[in-house]
Amino acid sequence: MNDTGPIHDTAPLRPGAAPPYRPLPDLSDLRAAIRGDWVVHGRRLSEPAFLAMATFRYGQWAISRRGRWSRAIAGKTYGLLNFFVAPWTRVFLPPQTRIGRDLHIVHCEGSISIHPDAVIGDRLGIMHNTTIGTNMGPGAPVIGDDVFIGVNSCVLGAVRIGDRVRIGANTAVTTDVPDDCIAVGSPARIMPRLGPLSRGS
Ligand SMILES: CC(C)(COP(=O)(O)OP(=O)(O)OC[C@H]1O[C@@H](n2cnc3c(N)ncnc32)[C@H](O)[C@@H]1OP(=O)(O)O)[C@@H](O)C(=O)NCCC(=O)NCCS
Repeated sequence: MNDTGPIHDTAPLRPGAAPPYRPLPDLSDLRAAIRGDWVVHGRRLSEPAFLAMATFRYGQWAISRRGRWSRAIAGKTYGLLNFFVAPWTRVFLPPQTRIGRDLHIVHCEGSISIHPDAVIGDRLGIMHNTTIGTNMGPGAPVIGDDVFIGVNSCVLGAVRIGDRVRIGANTAVTTDVPDDCIAVGSPARIMPRLGPLSRGS
């Protein structure tokens, strides 16, 4: 995992360690993150997945304001926005979660739930009815770059999912998954690939 920007800082983190909160420091970072989400979701402002991501990015920016008043005003605005957006899109994504660029919600037609302590790299592709959360104890997943999570799947506990991992449909992952592997089934079977998965393959 490479550190490619201020909101992507997954490399030094161990699973289970409380992640140091890494904010979006200024408006240009917020704009860049939202623009990436817009492009990934087909450049359509009315796309629910884009609205869910834009709300999340705004919330991230809002809670990282330094001034007491600007944080309070931005935070309340976020709270009001999310009050409508979260139940409508059914994407439950707290602003404390650390997520890299270009997360792609492939079909925004089920529910997606992600824990605030989860750390996610760049270009996660995620299907509907998925959960990234804890497993009856502290610690949330740390997920690398270019990962895909199939429909009806969950990644639970203080586990580390490597780069370019594919998690199949109907899969429950509760253990680490090395780079370039696929994980399928419940409990997950982990199968190495012969070489790195190329993007889009
Ligand atoms: C996991 C996935 C990405 C793997 O794709 P792939 O790299 O092409 O792998 P393969 O199809 O060659 O499958 C490899 C093995 O995993 C098994 N497998 C694949 N997906 C599986 C799944 N979801 N559950 C259980 N086993 C699965 C295959 O049977 C095969 O097993 P075998 O080697 O014993 O024969 C894909 O099967 C998948 O589940 N995609 C989810 C797509 C999705 O969510 N679509 C929703 C559309 S609305």
